[in-house]
Amino acid sequence: MEEEVSSHYDSTTIALHWLTAGMVAALWCVGRVADFFPKGVWRTNVWSIHVSLGFAFVTVLAWRIVWRFFGRRRLPFPYPGLTHKLAAASHALLYALVCVVVALGVVNAFVRGFNLFDVFALPQFGDRELKTPITFWHGLFANLLMLTALAHACAALFHHYVLQDGVMERMIPERQIYVEEPDLDTLIEDGKGGRSSHT
Ligand code: HEM
Ligand code: HEM
Repeated sequence: MEEEVSSHYDSTTIALHWLTAGMVAALWCVGRVADFFPKGVWRTNVWSIHVSLGFAFVTVLAWRIVWRFFGRRRLPFPYPGLTHKLAAASHALLYALVCVVVALGVVNAFVRGFNLFDVFALPQFGDRELKTPITFWHGLFANLLMLTALAHACAALFHHYVLQDGVMERMIPERQIYVEEPDLDTLIEDGKGGRSSHT
């Protein structure tokens, strides 16, 4: 028996993809604007939001990676050859960059013994002086991630608006189409169907 091939990823993959996209964009924006806030309670709180969201993202990323390898619906590649290799390489690059940025962020938080909202300080590990180079590399890789994600989003929009090949739709939840059951009494009254028209 032939297996039916779906035209969409499963709902967990789709939810995790858009959650990742939203959280990465939010983390980058908060990371880039935090130092514009006045020193003191404001800046501490904005950085604390970044670090808390960062730890929440660690769980989303771990779930996404586990789901990708063990749970998600596998779809056939729409284009063979070089195009497929480029798409696979760009997805692998996105995963690699996300993992590097997150790893550097977590190390950064512990090297600083980061004080969350001036309420709870993380345990401090390693040489505090490392915070400057780690922040530099974390910020640099975060920028590279955003550039790669931008190119990836442009490619998805190109598929959608120019090639119109359904690749974008694979990452969008399947729409359920509900057909309203016709009211049997109305159909009989109208003489359009039902038992009476056959007898
Ligand atoms: C930071 C933002 C983003 C990241 C990190 C990201 C990452 C990824 C990754 C890794 C995949 C491959 C799926 C997998 O192997 O698990 C993927 C697929 C996909 N992404 Fe994104 N993405 C981002 C934003 C976007 C945006 C903004 C769009 C649309 C405008 C988009 C559209 C798609 C589509 C359509 C696919 C499915 C491609 C296919 O079926 O082969 N992504 N994304
Ligand atoms: C993909 C996710 C992430 C992005 C896009 C991101 C982005 C950024 C950016 C742009 C900066 C500013 C760097 C600079 O000033 O040059 C920053 C700083 C920082 N990030 Fe992230 N980050 C992410 C994840 C994380 C995670 C998971 C953690 C820890 C749990 C974290 C902890 C930090 C810390 C401690 C700083 C320095 C704060 C300070 O200067 O006081 N980040 N991040």
